[in-house]
Amino acid sequence: MTQTIDLSGRAALVTGAGSGIGRKTAHVLADAGASIACTDVNLGTAEETAAAIKDAGGEAIAIAHDVVEEAQWANAVNATTEAFGNLRIMVNNAGIELVKTIDQISTDDFRRVMDINVLGVFLGIQACADAIHNSGGGSIINLSSVAGLIGAPRQAAYCASKGAVRLMTKATALELAGLGKQVRVNSVHPGIIETPMMDDLIQGVPEEEREARIAQMHARHPIGRLGQPLDIANAILFLASDMSDFMTGSEVVVDGGLTAN
Ligand SMILES: NC(=O)c1ccc[n+]([C@@H]2O[C@H](COP(=O)([O-])OP(=O)(O)OC[C@H]3O[C@@H](n4cnc5c(N)ncnc54)[C@H](O)[C@@H]3O)[C@@H](O)[C@H]2O)c1
Repeated sequence: MTQTIDLSGRAALVTGAGSGIGRKTAHVLADAGASIACTDVNLGTAEETAAAIKDAGGEAIAIAHDVVEEAQWANAVNATTEAFGNLRIMVNNAGIELVKTIDQISTDDFRRVMDINVLGVFLGIQACADAIHNSGGGSIINLSSVAGLIGAPRQAAYCASKGAVRLMTKATALELAGLGKQVRVNSVHPGIIETPMMDDLIQGVPEEEREARIAQMHARHPIGRLGQPLDIANAILFLASDMSDFMTGSEVVVDGGLTAN
């Protein structure tokens, strides 16, 4: 028996949908039949994602949306339900990396990482939980990282933010389930994925050392390669679908074995 994931009739809001994992996730959810609200602080890139989905025969809108701005969350949720009549899936994907030593990280740097990566996710859950429940139930997927499971030098702020996302996911999953809300909340923990964010990891590395640094990154993944956005989008698709109906408060690690040893 062939089993396929069918999300038709369901709307999904994906933050940071203008690049990398968010863009691929928007496409994969749309391919499964979902209507997509592509949101990004950079509207032009969200519009490109939405246009490509529509060109492929799917349904999508683009919304200018800074995840740190509470009022913009209300606007994004309203625009989604107005366009598609429901909100069943929300992917808290927008995030930033910061690769600096403890001495280099300013208070402003630290606050910015926590604002976008942690407050942004919290505001998303706060803005979407009731809308998802009232639409018939669904799934919130929060992008954490392997950096939310293990430490990494020069990433104190980023690791702090992704660790916070991991436990905020569990706390909100328990609270919503306890309230009888039909909203599951899970986190995804990617290894190193080839997106524009990966450039942050090699920023400041002298040109002649870059190849060796990238080889080191490959070697950290026992499976022998870096991750691709599709590897993460497929895990998100599963968490968005009813196939994961018994999962809430879980952490799904998609890291080629990086954290297994
Ligand atoms: N690439 C990796 O190796 C990796 C590994 C683990 C986790 N992650 C996480 O996956 C998520 C996506 O990462 P990516 O690699 O696709 O990054 P990316 O840099 O390719 O894309 C991030 C997107 O988020 C948007 N964004 C940034 N700040 C925003 C804000 N304030 N409001 C709304 N949108 C904003 C950007 O415009 C961009 O479109 C992030 O949360 C990241 O921390 C990435």
